[in-house]
Amino acid sequence: MAPAKRGSARTENRQGHRLKPAEPVWAAVDQYFADLLVPADVELDAALEANRAAGLPAIDVSPLQGKFLQLLVQMTRPQRVLEIGTLGGYSTIWIARALSDGGRIITLEYNPKHADVARKNLENAGLLDRIDLHVGAALDTLPQLASPDAAPFDLIFIDADKRSNPQYLEWALKLSRPGTMIVVDNVVRDGKVIDAESDDPDIQGTRKMFEIMAAEPRLNATVVQNVGIKGYDGYALAVVLR
Ligand code: SAH
Ligand code: DHB
Ligand code: MG
Repeated sequence: MAPAKRGSARTENRQGHRLKPAEPVWAAVDQYFADLLVPADVELDAALEANRAAGLPAIDVSPLQGKFLQLLVQMTRPQRVLEIGTLGGYSTIWIARALSDGGRIITLEYNPKHADVARKNLENAGLLDRIDLHVGAALDTLPQLASPDAAPFDLIFIDADKRSNPQYLEWALKLSRPGTMIVVDNVVRDGKVIDAESDDPDIQGTRKMFEIMAAEPRLNATVVQNVGIKGYDGYALAVVLR
C-alpha cells in the first residue's frame, strides 16, 4: 500500500475508534499494522460499539496499544494489576485476558455511567471473575487498597485524569514492590508536555509527575512516544528498583 496522501485518512478505524486529525500516514500505518497483528475480535469490537452507543468518549487505547499492554502482561506475568481509569473497559479486557491463572486486575473509575458500561463489557467478555471494578474518585478508592496485609501490585497502568498524575505516581510507588512496572498513558499530548508555561492543569500534572519520576531513586523510567490513529502521544514506562 502506498503511503496515505494528505486528506485521505479515514475518520474511523475498523474497530470504530474515532481518528484524531493527525498526519494521515500515522493513521494509515497504524491501520496497516493493526490489520496484520490485531485480528477482528468479537468482544473487543462489541465493547467499543457499546461505548459508542452509550456516548462514552472514544479515548480508549488503540488496538495496537492494547496489544502492547497485553504483551507487557505476557512478559511480566503479574498476579495483581492496578488500572486507574477504566472508561468502558477496553484496555481492561486486553490486560485481563492475558493474565495467568489466579491473576487479578483492580480497575478504578470515577464516572458511574462509564463503570456500568465497563461492567457489561467485561461480563460480555467473560472476564468479571478476575476483575474488581471500584467506582469513585481514584484518590478516594486508592487508600482502601493500601491495607497492611494487601499484596503489592506487579503492574500499574495510570490512565485517568492527567492533573492527578503526580498523586497517582505516589500511590503507585506506595502500592508497589521491587520489579513493579508502571505505565502512564498520554504523557506527550501533541508535544504540549514541553510547554512549561501551559495553563492546562493536565499538562502541569504530567510535568509534575515527571519531576517526581526523575528525582525518585526508586524508579528507573523512560518514555515511548506514540503516533497513530490517536494522533501524537506517548507512554511513560518505569520500573520500581527497590
Ligand atoms: N483505560 C481506558 C481509558 C480511560 S479514559 C482505556 O484505554 O480503555 C480515562 C477514564 O478516567 C475516564 O473514564 C474517566 O471518567 C476516568 N477518570 C477521570 N477522573 C478520574 C478519577 N479522579 N478517578 C478515577 N477515574 C477517573
Ligand atoms: C484523553 C484521555 C485519554 O486517556 C486518552 O488516551 C486520550 C485522550 C482525554 O482526556 O482527552
Ligand atoms: Mg489514555
